[in-house]
Formats: sequence, structure tokens, C-alpha cells
Amino acid sequence: MYTKLNRNDPCWCGSGKKYKHCHEAFDEKIIHFERQGVPVPQRSSLKKQSDIDKIKKSAEINMAALDAVAARIGAGMSTLEIDTIVEETTRRMGGIPAPLNYKEFPKSCCTSINDQVCHGIPSAEDILQDGDIINVDCSTILDGYFSDSSRMFLIGDVSAEKRRLVEVTKECMEIGIRAVKPWMRLGDMGSAVHQHALDNGYSVVREIGGHGCGFEFHEDPFVSYVSKPGTEMLMVPGMVFTIEPMVNMGKDEIFVDEENDWTVYTADRMPSAQWEVELVVTEDGCEILCS
Ligand code: MF3
Ligand code: CO
Repeated sequence: MYTKLNRNDPCWCGSGKKYKHCHEAFDEKIIHFERQGVPVPQRSSLKKQSDIDKIKKSAEINMAALDAVAARIGAGMSTLEIDTIVEETTRRMGGIPAPLNYKEFPKSCCTSINDQVCHGIPSAEDILQDGDIINVDCSTILDGYFSDSSRMFLIGDVSAEKRRLVEVTKECMEIGIRAVKPWMRLGDMGSAVHQHALDNGYSVVREIGGHGCGFEFHEDPFVSYVSKPGTEMLMVPGMVFTIEPMVNMGKDEIFVDEENDWTVYTADRMPSAQWEVELVVTEDGCEILCS
């Protein structure tokens, strides 16, 4: 349950002000929603300005790793080479690749090609071909703070159908970002993302989604992009989470590779795309921390 402090105590946010002059009204607002049965975040999960600054430092490395991939990716390159670029860039800048050894994941980033939905494992055997689309998903730990983002790359001459999937998926993420408003619900955002995919004849993966992020790699809440308006957790300033819809050209069903227990594929083997940002909810919308 979300609780209040004593009015004359120092505020929990670290401002140095008395609680009654700082976050008391904010807490009352959250408690008002909680009393109506709305799921609300725990106070300990909210990020202060000093936390946001540290996530941004971590994100600088994450974005530099993706920039380094963008500068060199192309047909003939293996996904292991992508992993090497990510790991070297991250470590040179003082960061740690968060995926490496996370739940026994063996590499420093995820590389998911065509019908691979997510969690593709970089390998010397997977060589990028002309016409492929690939998601490269990077996450960085710096000073204990986590950043997380992913981008799509087009390899050579990509078909119009696949280019449109990649473009619409980016629009889905952008529509989600614009739907982030404090005191609205995560389902308001998720349903906006879903609707744009449906309007374009696509489907959205249901079982895997976004997550809180910052203090840990994956924190509550689970963030769905097939949710309904007026449902799911209340969005409040200081909440940090990812928007990372996986959009399928065909049906939404997926399966996990039985051999490696990681790589997720579309059941109909049609292409899938994903873009990911990490953001913080602000007083009037959100701020992108990592992209
Ligand atoms: N970066 C992915 C995400 O967006 C998670 C990858 S899990 C890993 O949540 F173990 F594969 F790294
Ligand atoms: Co993520």
C-alpha cells in the first residue's frame, strides 16, 4: 500500500524540503487512485532527479553502442560482429552490457532478424543478407543504473512490405510516447500502440512487452501493447519504463526456440519488427532517456 510520511519530515524525494511543502499532495493523489482500486507504482520504484541523471549517463553509452552498430552494419556482417561492436563500445566507455550472463544469456546484445521477434543470440553463423531487417537491442549498466533501447536496421535492398512494417512499428512506438501522460493509465498508451498496428493490418505480440527500468534491468510494471484504455497501472511522474512493441506482419502468435530457450519467432514465420525507448514520466508527458 502507498503510505504518507509525517508532514514535517524531510520529503522522500531528497529535495531537502519538508514533506508538506513537497510531495505530500502528490502522494495524496496517488492514494486517491489506489483507493479506487487503480494499480499504482511503489514509491521505492520512482526515480528522483539524481537517479534520472545517472540513467542518462548509462543511456549515453547505450546510444553510442547503437550508433557504432549503425555506422558499420551491412550485408555480409555476422551478428557476432555486431555483438563485438556493442561490447567494445560499452566497455570502452566504462559500462557493462546488461544482457551478458543475464539469466544465462550468453552475449552482450540481442540481434533478431526477419521472423525472429526478439532475444536473437548473436552468432558467427548468422550472416546478414541483402533484404534482411534486424533489430539490435542493447542495454547498459553504469554505476548501477540501467538503460535499454533498440533500433531496426535495413540491410541493402529491403522489400516495400518489410520497409513498411519497420516504419509503422516506429510510428507505433512514437504514438505510444505521445500517449504517456501523468495520471493516465498504461492501458491508454498500450491501446494507442495496438490500434495503430491494427489499422495497418498488423498484429502485436501479447506475451512479451516493456517493463520498468533503471534500478534493475526489468522492474514492475509489465507494459503491454495490447492493453485496453482505462486499465493497467497509473502513470505518475518519476516512473521510468520502456516502450518496445513487437509488431508482426502476420499473426501475433510466437514460439521460443527449443534449442537455445531464448530466441522468439513468429509462429507463421512472417517478419516482425521492434523499436524500443526508455522514458521517464514528467509533469506534462514524458522525457526520452534512451533511444
Ligand atoms: N533488452 C531486452 C528488453 O528490452 C531484454 C533482453 S533480455 C536478454 O527487455 F537477456 F536477452 F538480454
Ligand atoms: Co526492454
